[in-house]
Amino acid sequence: MKKFPLADTAITALAPVIWGSTYIVATEILPAGRPFTAAAVRALPAGLLLVLFAGRMLARHLWWRVAVLAALNIGAFQALLFVAAYRLPGGLAAVLGAIQPIVIMGLAWGWDGRRPQWAALGAAAVGVAGMGALLLSPSARWDALGVAAALAGALSMAVGTWLARRWKTGLPVAELAGWQLLLGGLMLTPLALLADPPLPASLAISEVLGYAYLTFVGALVAYLLWFRGLSKLSPVAVSSLGLLSPATAVVLGWILLGQKLGGTAMIGLAVVLGSVLTLQLKLLIQPVVDSWSRMAQGSMDGDERAQRDEALRSASLAAMTMILAAEGMGLSSCAMTGFDAQAVHAAFGLDANEVPVMLVAVGHAAQGNWPQKPRRPLGDVLRYA
Ligand SMILES: Cc1cc2nc3c(=O)[nH]c(=O)nc-3n(C[C@H](O)[C@H](O)[C@H](O)COP(=O)(O)O)c2cc1C
Repeated sequence: MKKFPLADTAITALAPVIWGSTYIVATEILPAGRPFTAAAVRALPAGLLLVLFAGRMLARHLWWRVAVLAALNIGAFQALLFVAAYRLPGGLAAVLGAIQPIVIMGLAWGWDGRRPQWAALGAAAVGVAGMGALLLSPSARWDALGVAAALAGALSMAVGTWLARRWKTGLPVAELAGWQLLLGGLMLTPLALLADPPLPASLAISEVLGYAYLTFVGALVAYLLWFRGLSKLSPVAVSSLGLLSPATAVVLGWILLGQKLGGTAMIGLAVVLGSVLTLQLKLLIQPVVDSWSRMAQGSMDGDERAQRDEALRSASLAAMTMILAAEGMGLSSCAMTGFDAQAVHAAFGLDANEVPVMLVAVGHAAQGNWPQKPRRPLGDVLRYA
């Protein structure tokens, strides 16, 4: 049976944690006011290295798919993110970005007919609320273009995340990540050249190291881990890990720069982490639930007798366990089948597919209770094979 992908989840979570660390590098170390340059410099060398390392061209039929993924996950996403970050205060862009798991659940529902679990949807919505508490100041301005860019960016990455899993390109993770970074970086380069002031003629060592960190760790390592995760886990699970990125940025700002966190922000941080954890646990368990449900359906569907037998078996085992537990607590208990099944059905509002199997009486033994009736010797009723 498939194991719980706990290790894969932890490894994939490193990617957004790394991205969370890149904000502080961008604001504290890199030359100011060149967001598209930072995005292009981050994507291009990492993509080039991965593609050179793979040492082969992309197969012809994959070009357009990988180009679409590159635009959605890197090119359009980064460009929109920076527009949003410039026009919106604080972390509003990140808060709006937190809708990604919900968007992916919607896509899976609309396209694949996979109904979202309400608990997972709830956890994702709570995550957005927590992010709001964590990052929004009461004086936050809602710039319409900024909000539209943030929503479009979140939509872009959500569709990219969903498609990356859905389109079976058959490419190894390093190649898939490499081509997306390379093509995405190429899309960002004209923006960097047109919209940003040129880089100064000479860069300080710290600035070079900052760009190197962005490309080797922030892009190469992080996107490898991210796309590796996407090849193994559900897209909703992976996208919900994305909430760890702004959360990490806030924690690092707090630890390294002494940026104070108010009470509401603290609660928000706890809520965000709780939402990510809840969603992961739900989704980790889901494949196991699904596979057992499929197995039960496969062997029972259309066979009413088998369904009824199974219901009686399961309920009888549960009843016996309750009787033993009651006796273990010093109470008296016994099974009863002499009851009006229809009346019990109505009184407890049971569904058509629910069978009242037996009643279990539990209570304190009355004085003068009759002694236990004789039992047949064990050997008469149980044979060891
Ligand atoms: C499946 C099952 C159904 C039973 N249904 C009833 C019942 O409807 N009414 C009743 O008085 N006893 C019922 N009994 C018997 C009591 O649960 C219990 O076994 C009986 O009072 C004898 O207890 P003793 O064998 O410990 O003396 C049922 C027993 C079993 C195993």
